[in-house]
Order: sequence, then C-alpha cells, then structure tokens
Amino acid sequence: MKEPKKFIYIINYPTFEEELCMLEMRSIFNTEPRDKVLISDIDFNPSYSTFIKSRLEILHEEEDFEDILNKLEKDTITLDDFRLEFIKALKADVPYNERFRYLSEIGDRIMGIPDIKSPKLVLALGKYNEKWFFGIHEKNDNVWITHEKKPCSYSNSLSVRVAKSVVNIAANGNKNTKIIDPCCGVGTTIVEGLSMGYEIWGTEISEKNTNNAKRNLGFFNLDPRVTHQDMHTIKENYDSSIVDIPYGLFSHITKDQQQDIIDTARRISKKMILITFEDLDYMVEKSGFKIVDRCAVTKGSFKRYILVCE
Ligand SMILES: C[S@@+](CC[C@H](N)C(=O)[O-])C[C@H]1O[C@@H](n2cnc3c(N)ncnc32)[C@H](O)[C@@H]1O
Repeated sequence: MKEPKKFIYIINYPTFEEELCMLEMRSIFNTEPRDKVLISDIDFNPSYSTFIKSRLEILHEEEDFEDILNKLEKDTITLDDFRLEFIKALKADVPYNERFRYLSEIGDRIMGIPDIKSPKLVLALGKYNEKWFFGIHEKNDNVWITHEKKPCSYSNSLSVRVAKSVVNIAANGNKNTKIIDPCCGVGTTIVEGLSMGYEIWGTEISEKNTNNAKRNLGFFNLDPRVTHQDMHTIKENYDSSIVDIPYGLFSHITKDQQQDIIDTARRISKKMILITFEDLDYMVEKSGFKIVDRCAVTKGSFKRYILVCE
C-alpha cells in the first residue's frame, strides 16, 4: 500500500500578524507551527497562504543522511530539468561546505540533466529536529501580491493578506465550502477566494461598491460573482459567511443595524468569520452564534478583531 503523503510547511509572518497566522494554521491544519515549521499530512497549496513561504513534500525521512542516499540508490529517480537545493529555513546547523557535499552526493544518485536556472522540479534536502528530509520543494509563487494593485480601492477595504487569511479560515482550507461575503465592499475577499479556487459569492448594498467589485474581479479575469443586494434579502444558505462589519467611523450604521447584519449571517450560514474594530462579542452571543476561536491584528493604534463563530 502507498504511504500517505507528508509535508513540511515553512512559515513566516510579521509580528503584528502572528495571531492571525496561528488562527489560519489551526483552521487549515488543526495545529500550529513550532519554530515556524509545521509538519502535516494535509496537502495545501503553499501559494494559497501569505504565511507559507515554501513546502517540502517528503519523499524520504531518515535519522542518518547515509540512509537517504541508500533510499535514492534503491528507488532511482530519473528526471530532467531539476534543481537540487538545501532548505536553510529549517535552521539546521550544517556548514556550507557540508551542505554542498551532501547535495552533490544526492545529485550523483539522480539520473538526468539538471537545470539550475529554470527547473521544472526542485528537489531539496533539509535537516530538522535531528532528522534528514528529502523531497519536492515548492515555494509560494506570491501571485497574490499583484492583487494589491486593484483598479478600485476603498478606504475601508481589507488588506489582501487579511482577506486571503479569512477565506482560508472560513473554509478550513476545504475547496468545497460554500462561502458568502454578504457585505463584500469592492470584493477583496471574492478576488482572493476565487483566485484560490474556493466557492465564494458576494452581495453589496451600495451600487457603486458593487460595480467596483465587479470591475476588480474582471481585472483579474475572475467571475464577477457579486450582486447588488441588501444582505437581509438573501434566501440561499451557505457553509460559511465572512462579515467585515460596517463600522460607525466609515459608514452611518447603528448598533441595531450591526446586530441585524450578524443575525442575518446566522440565518444564512452555519459558520461566520466576523471582522470588527471593536468588541462585538455580545452581539455574536445574542445572535445565537458561539465564538469558537479568535485573534486580533494590531498595527500601531489600529486593532482589528477576527472571530470564528459557529
Ligand atoms: C467594512 S465594508 C466591507 C469592505 C470589504 N471587506 C472590502 O474589502 O472592500 C462594509 C460594506 O458593507 C456594505 N453594507 C452595509 N450594509 C449592507 C447590507 N445590509 N447588505 C449588503 N451590504 C451592506 C457597505 O456598503 C460596505 O461596502
């Protein structure tokens, strides 16, 4: 029987997003990274999280380097256009000249012609917690950075990083999750969700924001799945909603209207990710949702709360 796949994810985050990273990792992998390394049998595309820098799909895992060589001799790899590298981010204390020697010993056991500049596959060696790992190394393609420049922005928009993260949290990394962003503004979460292959839709009460969301989606060749609609008229049911709640500083919204938005999210979705600038726990509880996880993103005097409610 074929052994299940196993992966090493290499994680990094700015300090102010540490809590968000941990919440996203708990949501996708049911565990948190230790020393910015996470080992899991869950197969998650490393380009789908801003916090995953790269991923090693483990082919061989051994206490001794010699045993990696033995395995490579036993199951010969025949491959063209590959590159071999050492994963420094695993922070093992292996001096440069030794790394070089290990890689050339591995290279001697791979049949094929390497291509250092534009390889089709990157194979890598790393050492972590006194164990050697060899496998396929895939870096984050960072395509999401291009989403930072949208034709239409909005003072109130989520950052691409937070939008991507809340979509992963809403879906627990599961592509079949049906997600709604009922107050989607200029469509920041819809752009991130659709570009990662999630089933996500948006509604927006402002005609101008709806048109801008459609323009943003069109700009990235994504389906303009946003309707100009008051969320309270939504009839469909969803697995998850993402509610970036309108806030007094930016919109004319009363506490009762905020409560109505949370109540409607409860009616249309089994789970809600609530993004707020202030403590709205009491509104969540009043709606019948329970807060099951949470984090805060603090940058200077600016604090956003992200609540996972079920
Ligand atoms: C905080 S903004 C969302 C920003 C959005 N996350 C983005 O990145 O562009 C809240 C949005 O909710 C919309 N809104 C307020 N009440 C609504 C309702 N009843 N139905 C749908 N949208 C509503 C507002 O027009 C506003 O665009």
